[in-house]
Amino acid sequence: MEGRNLEKQPVIEMLGITKRFVDVTANDRVDLSLYPKEICALLGENGAGKTTLMNILFGYYLLDEGEILIHGEKVTFGSPKDAITHGIAMIHQHFTLVPIQTVLENVMIGVEGKFFLDKKSARKRLIEIEERFGLALGPDLLVWTLSIGEQQKLEILKALYREAEILIMDEPTAVLAPTEIEELFKTLRTLVDNGRSVIFISHKLHEVLEISNRIVVLRSGKNVAERKTSETNIPELANLMVGRELLERLKRKEIETGAAVLEVKGLRVRNSRGLIAVDGLDLTLRSGEVVGIAGVSGNGQTELSEALFGQIRPEEGILILGGEEFPGVKPSEVIRRGMARIPEDRIGTGLFMDLSVKENMVLENHVQEPFSRRGLTNMKEIRSFASGCIENFQVKTDGMEAPVKSLSGGNLQKVILARELAGNPKIVVACQPTRGLDVGAMEYIHQVMLKQKERGAGVLLISDDLDEIFLLSDRILVMYEGKILGEMNAEEANREQIGLWMSGVTS
Ligand SMILES: Nc1ncnc2c1ncn2[C@@H]1O[C@H](COP(=O)(O)OP(=O)(O)OP(=O)(O)O)[C@@H](O)[C@H]1O
Ligand SMILES: [Mg+2]
Repeated sequence: MEGRNLEKQPVIEMLGITKRFVDVTANDRVDLSLYPKEICALLGENGAGKTTLMNILFGYYLLDEGEILIHGEKVTFGSPKDAITHGIAMIHQHFTLVPIQTVLENVMIGVEGKFFLDKKSARKRLIEIEERFGLALGPDLLVWTLSIGEQQKLEILKALYREAEILIMDEPTAVLAPTEIEELFKTLRTLVDNGRSVIFISHKLHEVLEISNRIVVLRSGKNVAERKTSETNIPELANLMVGRELLERLKRKEIETGAAVLEVKGLRVRNSRGLIAVDGLDLTLRSGEVVGIAGVSGNGQTELSEALFGQIRPEEGILILGGEEFPGVKPSEVIRRGMARIPEDRIGTGLFMDLSVKENMVLENHVQEPFSRRGLTNMKEIRSFASGCIENFQVKTDGMEAPVKSLSGGNLQKVILARELAGNPKIVVACQPTRGLDVGAMEYIHQVMLKQKERGAGVLLISDDLDEIFLLSDRILVMYEGKILGEMNAEEANREQIGLWMSGVTS
C-alpha cells in the first residue's frame, strides 16, 4: 500500500479503466484517484484519452474493463444521471444551457429529488450558494445575455445546486479571458476549501502548475506519470506528455515585407444582437509579416474575422484583398482571392462533424483541380492529399475515412489547419489557432505560421493568448471595443503597455 492511501481515503478511485472504440484503445488500464479537497490535473497530448476517461467517470460512456470506487464503494454508472446522484458533475467545454431562460430556470432544469423546489425556495437556495462560493450571478438574468465566463459560472452553480462533491472540468480555461481565468481559479480554491474535489484538464502547463495539487499524465491512453505539483516544472511536464523535449524557443525571422495583401479601411460591423462590434477599424497586412491582434475576447475580434471571411456583410468600410476591392460576402470568394481561414469555432464553422476526415480536408475545394477534372471527382488525388495532410500534421485518427466527430479536440484543429494551409494562401487569417492544442501540437502550429510568413504570406493572428501574440508577431495591434487602440512593433512591444491597452487605458 502506498502511504498516501493510508492517510486519506480517495473520494474516487478509477482502477484499470479500459475503453475501446472501433480501432483505438482510448484508455488502456488507466488508474486515477482523486482525494478530498484536492485539485488533480489531468494532462496529456491531444488524443491521449483525457476526455474519454472523464466521460466514463461521468457515466456518459460505459467502460469495457476496470472499476470505479466512490468513497471505497464500487459503483456502476449507466448514464450521467447515476454519476450526478453520486455527486459527480462535469462542466463541458460546450455548455448545456438554455439561452432563452433565466439563470434560476437553468439551475432548476432537470433537478429531481430533494432539490426539486418551488421557484421561491429554489431562488433562496441559489442565492445562498452564490454567497457561499462567491459566485454572484443575478438569478433573473437571461442566459443569452451572459458572457462565456458567466455561463461557465452558471454551469458551476448548477453543479453546486445538485450538491456535487466532485467537479470535472474539461479545458475550462480554453474559452476564458485572462481575468476570467483568475476568477475561475479563485472559485476553484473556494470549492476545495469547502470540501469539494476537482479534476482539471488544461493544455496550459503554467495554469496546471498554478492551480493543481497533483498531476496525472496520460500518453496514448495509458498512465505515464504522476507528480506532486510542487515537485515538478514545465519542461518535465512537457517531456512527460509528448515524450520528447520541446524545441528551443522559436526564432522569429525578420524578413523583408512586401506589398499589402489585405487592407481594411473604416470597417464597421454589427454583431448578431445588432450592436456595433467593429467600430471604424483600419489595418494593413503585408506579405512576409505576422500581425497579431491582441485583446480580451469579446472586443469585436470574432466579428472582424467573420467580416474578413465573407461571412457577415460589414455595415461600412472597405476590404482590399490583393490590391482589389472586395465587394462580396461569400466565403468562396475570399478563398478564391487567396485567403486561408482558421475559424475560432471549429465545430460550428470549420468542420462537418458527420463527414469523414478526408471529406473535411477537401471541403471547400473538392470541385477544383486537381480534386475534380471536367466535373469528375478524382478520388485518387483526394486520397493522396488527405493522407499527406494526416502525415504532415500528425493528425491522430483511425484513418481518412473516420468521421471527424471521432477525433479529439486538438486533432480537429489540425484537420482545419492542414486543409486551409495546403493551397499556399497569400493571406492567413487565424483566429485562436492553437486553442485546445497540446504543447507539442501548439509548437508545431507556431512553426507552420512562421513558415507561412517566410514563404511570403501575410498572417493575421487573432488571439487572446498574449504569449502566442508575442512569440509570433512582427507587429502587435490591440483591439478594444471594436477599435485598434494601439500598435507596437515586436522590438518595442512590452506587456505592460499592451495590457493597459487591452483594458482600454490610453495615455
Ligand atoms: N466517440 C468516439 N469514437 C471513436 N473514437 C473516439 C471517440 N471519442 C474519442 N475517440 C478517440 O479516442 C482517443 C482519445 O480521445 P480523447 O477525446 O479522450 O482525447 P483527449 O485526451 O481528450 O484529447 P484533446 O486534448 O485533444 O481533447 C482519440 O484517438 C480519439 O480519436
Ligand atoms: Mg479532450
